[in-house]
Amino acid sequence: MKKVIRGQVLSFGEDLGVALHLESGAVAVDGQGRIGWVGAFAKLPEEWRSAPVDDHGDRLVLPGFIDAHIHFPQYRMLAAPGKDLLDWLHRFTFPEEARYGEVDHAAAAARLFLSRLFSHGTTSALAFCSVHKTCAEALFAAASSVNMGLVTGKTMMDRNAIPAVQDTPETGARDSEALYHAWHGKGRNRYAVTPRFAITSSEAQLKLSGELLASLSGALMQTHISESPGEIAFVRELFPSAKDYTDVYDRHGLLGPRSIFAHGIHLSEREAARFSETGSSVIHCPTSNTFLGSGLMSFSFLRARSRPVPLGIATDVGGGTSYSMLQTMAEAYKVQMLNGYKPQASELFAMSTIGNALRLHMAGETGSLVPGKHADIVVLDPQATPLLKARHDLSQSLEDVLFALMILGDDRAVAATYVAGACRHGGV
Ligand code: GUN
Ligand code: ZN
Repeated sequence: MKKVIRGQVLSFGEDLGVALHLESGAVAVDGQGRIGWVGAFAKLPEEWRSAPVDDHGDRLVLPGFIDAHIHFPQYRMLAAPGKDLLDWLHRFTFPEEARYGEVDHAAAAARLFLSRLFSHGTTSALAFCSVHKTCAEALFAAASSVNMGLVTGKTMMDRNAIPAVQDTPETGARDSEALYHAWHGKGRNRYAVTPRFAITSSEAQLKLSGELLASLSGALMQTHISESPGEIAFVRELFPSAKDYTDVYDRHGLLGPRSIFAHGIHLSEREAARFSETGSSVIHCPTSNTFLGSGLMSFSFLRARSRPVPLGIATDVGGGTSYSMLQTMAEAYKVQMLNGYKPQASELFAMSTIGNALRLHMAGETGSLVPGKHADIVVLDPQATPLLKARHDLSQSLEDVLFALMILGDDRAVAATYVAGACRHGGV
């Protein structure tokens, strides 16, 4: 059904600046849940004049957030106090992920996981599943039922974990291929080849991952890289002939414009240059990095003009401590300040919307308020809490409003979330 979403309309451009700001604007949604028109409410075209209007007043109507790295089977294990990444994985994470071999558990968890994304204003994600094929099936099915743009894959991991979450190179490749054929391109679903990281995949599994990435047309690849000092030291022991951590993936054909690497905190100059040359992306996961004590990733190092690395931003739940992309931006701001760089709020909002859409190869369908894209929208209330309201009285510019929202806001600021035009959380 056609509808009109009215409010203070705001969208961002590929240059990470504000591309559109309409104080009394409207997004007109067509019968297929796509954006048909965007402009001043007063100029609403004739064909939408009799459509129902969700009037959000002065609230901000933005493209929905895109979480570029999150773990579905960790949906409830936030705030698990590990000593560092490897301790956290072995003590809490692998035992929790072991439950996702059970179909009923995975299906119930998938519904909860998506509702949690929507209550935080996130409308698309690149997610890890567990090692179990059933886990990815459950998440794809849940995403399909709400016409959400979701990218996920079965995690491949054949060593250095408990048996309940290990596969073999052969079963990992066979299940990945079957999932790709069953789900990739079905509705808005996309497949990502998902070797967990170099510690939990043998050379044989990494090699097969590279072959899958090359052969499965349109698939992405997601993994982790250079997150914690203990992890990097172990990778060096496991792959003594590799030049560095990046080279482990590079040798297996895993770098390229469709490859998305979480963290990248401790990359060297050589590694950053290789990322830049191949167009591989690094996804910053700041609440996870501070929580696990992994380190402070630097935008200015990775963006060096001579060899810029494409960047994204993500929660990394459950290593990350919040589903909120607002809280994630706040933590990114603090981490970059500690690295001597002061991001603009609009830049972080742009990274969380159009920037991540570009990283995920989804910018043709989501990430900004442009006719033809799906109407994936979050409505934010800059006065949602007493603290936000008091601070709002001091705001003198759009940048200031966005800044206060990201530093002080969370799911309480999410007034409504629309996925492909359907309201999936909150309302007017
Ligand atoms: N490296 C390998 N697996 C994981 C994971 O589940 N979370 C994080 N933060 N890092 C990882
Ligand atoms: Zn992760």
